[in-house]
Amino acid sequence: MYSIVSFGHMALDGLRMDAYARAIASTVKPGDVVVDLGAGPGIFALLAARAGARRVHAIDVNPAVWLARDLAAENGLADRVEVHHASSWDVELPERANVIISDLRGTFPLYEGHVATLVDVKTRWLAPGGTLLPARDRFRVALVEAPDIWRDLESGWRYFEDRGFAAAAARASTLNTPYSDSDRAIPASHVLTSDAIFGEIDYGVPFAPTVERTVDVTTKRGGVAHGLCIWFDATVVDGISYSTAPGNVVTYKRTFLPLLEPVRLEVGEQASLTIRVDVRGRRWAWDTEIRAPSGGARARFRQASFLGEPTSPETMLRESAQFSPSRSEKGERVRRLLEQMDGKRTVAELAQSLVTPSLQEQDALDDVREIVARYGR
Ligand SMILES: C[S@@+](CC[C@H](N)C(=O)[O-])C[C@H]1O[C@@H](n2cnc3c(N)ncnc32)[C@H](O)[C@@H]1O
Repeated sequence: MYSIVSFGHMALDGLRMDAYARAIASTVKPGDVVVDLGAGPGIFALLAARAGARRVHAIDVNPAVWLARDLAAENGLADRVEVHHASSWDVELPERANVIISDLRGTFPLYEGHVATLVDVKTRWLAPGGTLLPARDRFRVALVEAPDIWRDLESGWRYFEDRGFAAAAARASTLNTPYSDSDRAIPASHVLTSDAIFGEIDYGVPFAPTVERTVDVTTKRGGVAHGLCIWFDATVVDGISYSTAPGNVVTYKRTFLPLLEPVRLEVGEQASLTIRVDVRGRRWAWDTEIRAPSGGARARFRQASFLGEPTSPETMLRESAQFSPSRSEKGERVRRLLEQMDGKRTVAELAQSLVTPSLQEQDALDDVREIVARYGR
């Protein structure tokens, strides 16, 4: 869950905020009903109220959304901003909205429930002819130099090798994992090739479960490629956009998919990149083929986040859609607890019923609070 400080930093992102502020000013009309979905402390809600919205529903599962109420009051907008501390999936609105504003992206727009959430709220909340902000994103990729990030990823395993151990499994695992450039921003000068669009999304319309595309890029500057850099171009509303391209200072950072080995690229050389990513942004696969001037491949890597996740056959079986699970001991405890949550017993009483020699009262209380927060009312 984001901290209050990180929400403040999101609002500091000039590129993103200027685009959203301009889009809100040009889209929200006096008298409109607006939703600020994933509002945090409600910067979009305040901008919409200032643009003349009659009512703004500020919605977030994060309790920071209660700050939106205080901030609205501080700015003389209390009568127009209504706070919903809940998941959008649990909220019924009393009216349809003319504009729904959100930024539920992570480092990449395909992030957890983002895409499905916008399809759902468009269907349930948007008035006919209403507008979703943002409108669409385009996904881009290029090969980049990133010696510091790459060295950092595999340097730990060098120490294993310095002590006489082989460490190929650990190195392969690390280099099959997607990273963000949050600690070491990739500058524009480190992009070695042309970039290519490998996907696009129009928000609010059903989207494929997986994006997969092969694109060709051409080397513009000779150097050593350490990985693929992924970013996106956002269109908040037609005519108003921003980009998270290397060199731009943005709250989102960029995704970095390392190569198994750094590869020297000469100007004019071509590479073919195949990217696959699921709609929740959890599983990535990236194939890289650097072509020799003769046309054949002179370097080829097939990588996937699956290969970067140490696991056991038992865990894989449990995650299979064909697995028929039964309840564990903990699952039984949760079942009994849910049955006892009848609106009569207090949290303390529920916790008391869980206490055993191996589960102390304070731990039982924490367990009950967690279950109540998730499934109680
Ligand atoms: C990246 S923050 C954006 C905060 C603020 N709107 C901004 O742009 O600066 C995304 C927020 O969306 C919230 N969120 C994501 N999915 C949600 C959902 N389905 N219902 C309610 N809140 C959601 C998260 O809790 C998080 O606070």
